Amino acid sequence: MYKHLIDKLEKEEKLSFEEYLTLIKNRESVREYAAERAREVRNRIYGNQVFIRGLIELSNYCKNNCYYCGIRAGNTQLERYRLTVDEIIKCADEGYSLGFRTFVLQGGEDSYYTDEKLCAAIKGIKEKYHDCAVTLSLGERSFDSYKALKEAGADRYLLRHETCNKEHYKKLHPENMSFDNRIKCVENLKELGYQVGVGFMVGSPYQTDEDLANEMLFLKRINPQMVGIGPFIPHKDTPFKDYQSGTAELTVFLLSLIRLSLPRVLLPATTALGTVDFSGREKGINAGANVLMPNLSPVSVREKYMLYNNKICTGEEAAQCIGCLSRRVESTLCKIVTDRGDYKYGI
Ligand code: 5AD
Ligand code: FES
Repeated sequence: MYKHLIDKLEKEEKLSFEEYLTLIKNRESVREYAAERAREVRNRIYGNQVFIRGLIELSNYCKNNCYYCGIRAGNTQLERYRLTVDEIIKCADEGYSLGFRTFVLQGGEDSYYTDEKLCAAIKGIKEKYHDCAVTLSLGERSFDSYKALKEAGADRYLLRHETCNKEHYKKLHPENMSFDNRIKCVENLKELGYQVGVGFMVGSPYQTDEDLANEMLFLKRINPQMVGIGPFIPHKDTPFKDYQSGTAELTVFLLSLIRLSLPRVLLPATTALGTVDFSGREKGINAGANVLMPNLSPVSVREKYMLYNNKICTGEEAAQCIGCLSRRVESTLCKIVTDRGDYKYGI
């Protein structure tokens, strides 16, 4: 019944706010068709390849107090840790031997990681592994800092905007955090030539279908190289502990819409999606996702990087996750590849 809207998206025609809202509200009847078309579009551009990114969670210190996040500064129920530059490089060593060609350095906003330390980690990895990409996911920093990190060799940056609705942003974050600064950071990263990823949580408290329709328009405007979405999952030691999780079903449908509206986007089936649904990541890949981001952090710190409760894979060595993911991906007719998996810019 709503197939014509999916066909319109596939033809790269823009949908209006009302059209996106109609799709989101009536997704039950179109989600299979949307997934099928999204797979087709992904295969046309990237083939059936799934790219893996080794996630190195370098610090769970964070100066921010986002209401949803388990490593928020206000959470005292948590043992904090930091990896040294050497430890970060050791994680990359292990990852390289397992076939990873992208390393994602992710952490809370932690001023311990000066530009100097981060540049040393980035250079350490890039000089050792010429065929690898380094992605950063370290929150809001100054233009000059982003510039220094880029010059040290960083290729990509993930900075989820969390919501494109300024009023909604205020309900998810304390007053000292600014939506405008976040968007400014995204623009700075683009200007500096990073491949940039934005994203949001699905089913976060106070989010409406209208917000989600606006997210689709916002993504089209930003035209990022990567989009990270995953269900919101409550963490017991946060102000949002009593809110419900977002669903895998809605997340998976949105993955299809994102693939159709941004055909070239690098789109992960996230760990959060695998947490709310045992087969969530496979469902994501079947709906048009093409990236997986398993953990390369030392197992000894995994439990401490708990953004939300029940996070999967905190006890598994990276090698175990690769085995597990390979089997999971086989069930989708896709295959995991050893490749940097850069964004394919159109001609
Ligand atoms: N549930 C799901 N995702 C979360 N994130 C942070 N806290 C949660 C949560 N409780 C996401 C945010 C952040 C990314 C690193 O993890 O979107 O940008
Ligand atoms: Fe880690 Fe399955 S991906 S155990």
